[in-house]
Amino acid sequence: MGKIVLTGDRPTGRLHIGHYVGSLKRRVEMQNSGDYDRMFVMIADAQALTDNFDNPDKVRKNIIEVALDYLSVGLNPSMSTLFIQSQIPELTELTFYYMNLVTVSRLQRNPTVKAEIQQRNFEASIPVGFFCYPISQAADITAFKATTVPVGEDQLPMIEQTKEIVRKFNSIYDEVLVEPEVVLPDNEVCLRLPGIDGKAKMSKSLGNCIYLSDSEKEVQQKIMSMYTDPLHLQVSDPGHIEGNTVFTYLDAFCRQEHFERYLPEYADLDELKSHYQRGGLGDVKVKKFLNKVVQEELEPIRIRRSEYEKDIGAVCDILKAGSEQARAVASQTLDEVKKAMKINYFENRGLFSE
Ligand code: TRP
Repeated sequence: MGKIVLTGDRPTGRLHIGHYVGSLKRRVEMQNSGDYDRMFVMIADAQALTDNFDNPDKVRKNIIEVALDYLSVGLNPSMSTLFIQSQIPELTELTFYYMNLVTVSRLQRNPTVKAEIQQRNFEASIPVGFFCYPISQAADITAFKATTVPVGEDQLPMIEQTKEIVRKFNSIYDEVLVEPEVVLPDNEVCLRLPGIDGKAKMSKSLGNCIYLSDSEKEVQQKIMSMYTDPLHLQVSDPGHIEGNTVFTYLDAFCRQEHFERYLPEYADLDELKSHYQRGGLGDVKVKKFLNKVVQEELEPIRIRRSEYEKDIGAVCDILKAGSEQARAVASQTLDEVKKAMKINYFENRGLFSE
């Protein structure tokens, strides 16, 4: 059996550096490693509509933004299949059959869904489509027989749900579906990069994100205004590292070679941290260093984006070709599913009298 990667994002906004360290970077490494037989990256517009059904413009407009983000970080359409979820009707059909394998109480226990219901004030009236999106996510993953799903930590309950569906389907019908494994970032701080204001999560509604598509100037302004240690008032004061966003970002982005290039008076991050803790190191100096490190990472992304932005038609063609390829694969799996369930009547007329 081959190693197959599937992952995706809801197109509800541009992607930010939290997405980058949390998952996008890993996807590109996986793509380029040659260790995987196929990689599918999905723009989950149908899932985005489950909680934005009244704002289809937002979802539609962000499809191209997310596609540009994918291409600019280095996902390469000749190596990976980039596609749009809603263009694969087989996924909806699979979802319908999987719904039989999941109970309402099981869905209610999903911690990510629970948190989202609260965030969106859905408590009183939860749309059925939204409630069932973990089942549709299981369809996304299993349609491609994905073995490997690189995502952020918040997606763990979805993969757990998928595994349960796979086991149940395979034991009731036939061994058709494949149980996926999650791949999380190795670096602990990359699991959940805080916003520039120090709040637990980067989120568009909090206005605390650094976007992959931000200009050099925007990134610099955001870094220079970042939350640090409110008790570190003067350069000479001892400072705190814990909960200090600038140091959290350095943990996520900084490598040894950055010191040689931009801050040769320090051997490594540990030395910089202990100076800050001792006192005598100002925020501005650390922020300027962080800015250099982050700009170095974002520069090639920005250049690639500006190339693709010149020809949005070509980006649409990439998504169209990718969606056609993805559909062929999903349709093969759906055929196997129907066969296992013995609902492929016209292929095998004997089934009617079996
Ligand atoms: N739930 C993911 C998100 O919130 C998007 C998604 C949909 C996905 N289907 C998927 C991720 C399948 C991984 C695998 O962004």
